[in-house]
Amino acid sequence: MITIHVEDTSGEKRSVEFQENPSGNLMEVLVEEIFDVPAICGGIAGCGTCHISIKTKGDELLPDPEDDESFMLDTLGNRVENSRLSCQLKLTNKLHEAEIKILGDG
Ligand code: FES
Repeated sequence: MITIHVEDTSGEKRSVEFQENPSGNLMEVLVEEIFDVPAICGGIAGCGTCHISIKTKGDELLPDPEDDESFMLDTLGNRVENSRLSCQLKLTNKLHEAEIKILGDG
């Protein structure tokens, strides 16, 4: 099981567990766990509503954003240094014990 620690837009924190699944993505987990993630585009890096900041345990390196993710992040007014689109992050062990903050599209 992978455990992540999520802070929602109101500042409440909750830990969530899920199975490793490289064909799934983090946005799907956040939606399933009823966090405020509208995911309007359905996960194609087209809306920015699944925007999060993420700090991995031990600063485990995540794959760099693809061009479409980088482009969308550039359009967001609330981008921070460790911003990612959760729909572009696969459900791998690299996420275990990550600290995540839901930022949305600002
Ligand atoms: S769900 Fe739209 S950018 Fe991730």
